[in-house]
Amino acid sequence: HTFDKRLADGTTTSPVHKSLALPTSDHNSKRTFCTLTRSMLQQRLRNKLEAAVAAILHAVWPWANCELWSDGLMAMITQAGNCYTLSKCILCACGTFVSSPPLTRLLCSLKEEMARFLTDYCRAPAPLDPENMESGETYPFQLTVPKLEAALTSAQDKEICVRGLILINPHNPLGDIYPADDLMSYLQFAKRHKLHVIMDEIYMLTIFKEGVEFTSVLSFDCLPDPSRTHVMWSLSKDFAASGLRIGVLYTCNSEVIQALGKIAYVHGVPGPLQSSVAQLLRDREWIDSEFLPTNRARLLAAHTYMAGRLRSMGVPYLDRASGLYIWANFQQFLKEPTFEAEVELWRALIQAKVLIGHGQAFLCPEPGWVRLVFSEKQQSLHLGMTSCCIPFRNSSVEQ
Ligand SMILES: Cc1ncc(COP(=O)(O)O)c(C=O)c1O
Repeated sequence: HTFDKRLADGTTTSPVHKSLALPTSDHNSKRTFCTLTRSMLQQRLRNKLEAAVAAILHAVWPWANCELWSDGLMAMITQAGNCYTLSKCILCACGTFVSSPPLTRLLCSLKEEMARFLTDYCRAPAPLDPENMESGETYPFQLTVPKLEAALTSAQDKEICVRGLILINPHNPLGDIYPADDLMSYLQFAKRHKLHVIMDEIYMLTIFKEGVEFTSVLSFDCLPDPSRTHVMWSLSKDFAASGLRIGVLYTCNSEVIQALGKIAYVHGVPGPLQSSVAQLLRDREWIDSEFLPTNRARLLAAHTYMAGRLRSMGVPYLDRASGLYIWANFQQFLKEPTFEAEVELWRALIQAKVLIGHGQAFLCPEPGWVRLVFSEKQQSLHLGMTSCCIPFRNSSVEQ
């Protein structure tokens, strides 16, 4: 309040005051916003915010050590140094220190309050959007612990009992490969909430770019919650053998093994097939020196071709190094940005004899995204991409 009054009086000449006077074009206002936020937090608000957060936490969890929490929060705020990260840190801190849903909700309202506060003190021309402070994403559709926390809270608010988390790494349809640290943070999130993790690593051998690393949870020396971590793999993708229908679930949880044994009884793999697959898996020399290098080279060539065609069509896509699919944004080809228009486009492409996966089928929140399979012979890819243009024959996209 005092600070605001001094600003109104024009009695402050601090850098904060100067930055408030900067022009408000989009780019500049964003920079100003960060500079201002950093200096305000560091110089003016740190103590008050610390005390406020500690008081809130103490009110909700009187039994907890609020000093530790507020120190943790403030250490991260100082280190982070801007509001974008500040909000993320608060949410991370929520994940780190507390597993109760009420704090997540509390912090959401803190986030809104923070946005209102900054709107006023930064004199933003329009109210700042709390969502712009939250995500901490560095790439599209990135899985983050705050998103997991938010999804869990939202499910719990609807009285849905969440028992497990399914993670796909490398991801279908995005092609994302989770870095080891991120993976560990998801596992720790699951442990905090006593969730089983079903880790689907069915695409683990499809990494086709040099120098890109994949981390299996089975490579961790120590899992956060071993008896609730279960790893799935099958031959379908890595050995291009979907029809065989042979997969495995690896878990040290004997109850899960027993339960699955009952299901496996009626889904048995025929003996001769078991024998052939065991022989295939035993032949490491062929796998390492023949099969995998050839498979990777072909995937890379097909990906390069498809990505090139998309670029020439002006289609944005996620450039990833794994999997059999490209996740591309076809929004520009929709009649309007709706899921109905997305299905319409999908149908039009089927008419042109091209089957793609449309985003809604993958619960994509934004219409227009599609999954394109590129693990095909170049001739088929060429035919598919050419047929793809048929529905756009009268539009500028036809190339
Ligand atoms: C992520 C993921 N998991 C599992 C499966 C199922 O594979 P399977 O053919 O072994 O049943 C698929 C198939 O598309 C997949 O994409």
